Amino acid sequence: MCGIVGYIGQKEAQPILLSGLKRLEYRGYDSAGIVTIDEKSKATLLRAKGKVAELEGKALTHTTKDSVGIGHTRWATHGEPSKRNAHPHHVGDIYLVHNGIIENYQDLKHMLTKHDYIFKSDTDSEVLTALIDFLYKDADSLLEAVSGALKMVVGAYGIALFSVQNPDEIIIARKGSPLIVGVAEGEVFIASDASALVGHTDQVIYLHDGEIGVCTREGIQLYDIETQAVEAEVEKLELDLQAIQKEGFDHFLLKEIYEQPKSLRSTLSGRINLKTNSVKLGGLNMTDDELREVRNIMVIGCGTAFYAGMMAGYFIEQFTDDVAVRSEIASELRYRSFHVPDNTVALIVSQSGETADTLACLQELKRRGVKCLGVVNAVGSTIAREVDGGVYVHVGAEISVASTKAFTSQVAAITMFGLMVAQAKGASSKELNTYIKELDLLPGEIESVLENSTGEIKKLAKKYAKYEHALYVGRDTQYPIALEGALKLKEVSYIQAEGYAAGELKHGPIALIDDRFFEVCYLQDNWLYEKSQSNLIEMNARGAHAIVITDTDKRVAAEAVVRVKTKLELLTPLVFNVASQLLAYYIAIARGNDVDQPRNLAKSVTVE
Ligand code: F6R
Repeated sequence: MCGIVGYIGQKEAQPILLSGLKRLEYRGYDSAGIVTIDEKSKATLLRAKGKVAELEGKALTHTTKDSVGIGHTRWATHGEPSKRNAHPHHVGDIYLVHNGIIENYQDLKHMLTKHDYIFKSDTDSEVLTALIDFLYKDADSLLEAVSGALKMVVGAYGIALFSVQNPDEIIIARKGSPLIVGVAEGEVFIASDASALVGHTDQVIYLHDGEIGVCTREGIQLYDIETQAVEAEVEKLELDLQAIQKEGFDHFLLKEIYEQPKSLRSTLSGRINLKTNSVKLGGLNMTDDELREVRNIMVIGCGTAFYAGMMAGYFIEQFTDDVAVRSEIASELRYRSFHVPDNTVALIVSQSGETADTLACLQELKRRGVKCLGVVNAVGSTIAREVDGGVYVHVGAEISVASTKAFTSQVAAITMFGLMVAQAKGASSKELNTYIKELDLLPGEIESVLENSTGEIKKLAKKYAKYEHALYVGRDTQYPIALEGALKLKEVSYIQAEGYAAGELKHGPIALIDDRFFEVCYLQDNWLYEKSQSNLIEMNARGAHAIVITDTDKRVAAEAVVRVKTKLELLTPLVFNVASQLLAYYIAIARGNDVDQPRNLAKSVTVE
């Protein structure tokens, strides 16, 4: 969602804040702002609608030498993207940036209006700023005012603020929205995401929910909401500069698609053993007896993470006899009545580890006493901290808003968990061994699609970029890939794309086929080949503009065929998926879109 940065130290704050915001821009990019303050309490506030580049332009003519400041890049929730609604907000003595949603902001606004506060923006964040300013008038310290205000708000927040009365202190606080503090000699860096800290320091403190931090040049002191001092735990940040740079690629999206062989190898590394045909995941915190008892796996996530769970579920039910896997959309699950059968393990899947709906499901399941494991990428994220154990997917920073490398590795990680369960149950079926072998082969197979198919897909993309609608269809294990393929296309190209189970075509969607549509059909040369081919024939008969992604050598009747050579049989969908990732990328490029930061979206959805 929104990105927060802050700095207090000896250096000039403006360039630090601006470069931090650039790195966080993938979290929200409809407006941005910074405020710095000098030792005489003169604040310089700069805000701009649009991307951080707009703000940088303003900063060129408003340079300051101030060494204290906070900044924000916004993904609008309350109020349109505009300069007026951009952060930092300024009310009375207080400048504040906020990530999250204050749910009771209307009530608070009403109360503050009675005390003569006038609001300039439509945001809930300005109300929080005013509330702190209001309480500060009668408080002994800013810390006390912040604590008082946070006790009154309902909702989620990551905040950073300062008062003009004390230009040597920044206060931060979190509840449900991440904040990380980097500490170094004589300076403190604040960010909502570790990528803004890389290159400044590798000594970091992750704030916990309910904590407030008072940052000065001497360091940070943490407090709980009652302003009782709390011990901070300093950790080492494992993220390097390379991981957050494009490294010669035009876009992060393309870089991350191409990174998949490498990122997948790190997901698998030390976890699969071909000699013993076994899998070992270190962080599950489950005994073999507990694994043996598992009868149900609930996989919970949003968007691509949900599809990853669905995909892996199809695999797991192939190599287990008595394990049922159900995939759940977190935003649905959290509000509906649902039953959790005995012997269930919940897998909480999230690249960022911060997705609000996914986190809410985790909290509800834990409340019900269900064993919850994380399948998370971001080390130290909220979900990673709150689960009972889990698997880090280790794909490195995923900067592009559209998720690619995380998907592939999430599927691999969940499948490995299924293999651990199957192993514990004593299964040694042919499928189980084939899965382990294929997982090992998968990075190389992805490499080969990237080498051999990119040119052809790029050409096709130019031809199909003119369409406004697309249908993606697949059967069995290709169905989740059809859903994920369609999601990728719609996100980055803005073509309306829907994924369907190929067998469903006749039950409705086939009515859509006309010259405004193209179709992507996943045609795997396996036991369902004939069935999938019939669906293709049905579509062709209605004038489809079909692109078939297939591993067959047989003749395929379609407008375009992408032949993906692979040694795989079971994990083939993951290789086909790379072809559809490339298709989405090149179509979006052909349409002139901003592929890394598609409109209306943001990475890491920390609000509902
Ligand atoms: C799609 C995409 C989103 C995320 C979803 C969950 O390309 O990126 O659908 O997959 O917002 O995010 P995480 O995995 O961070 O919980």
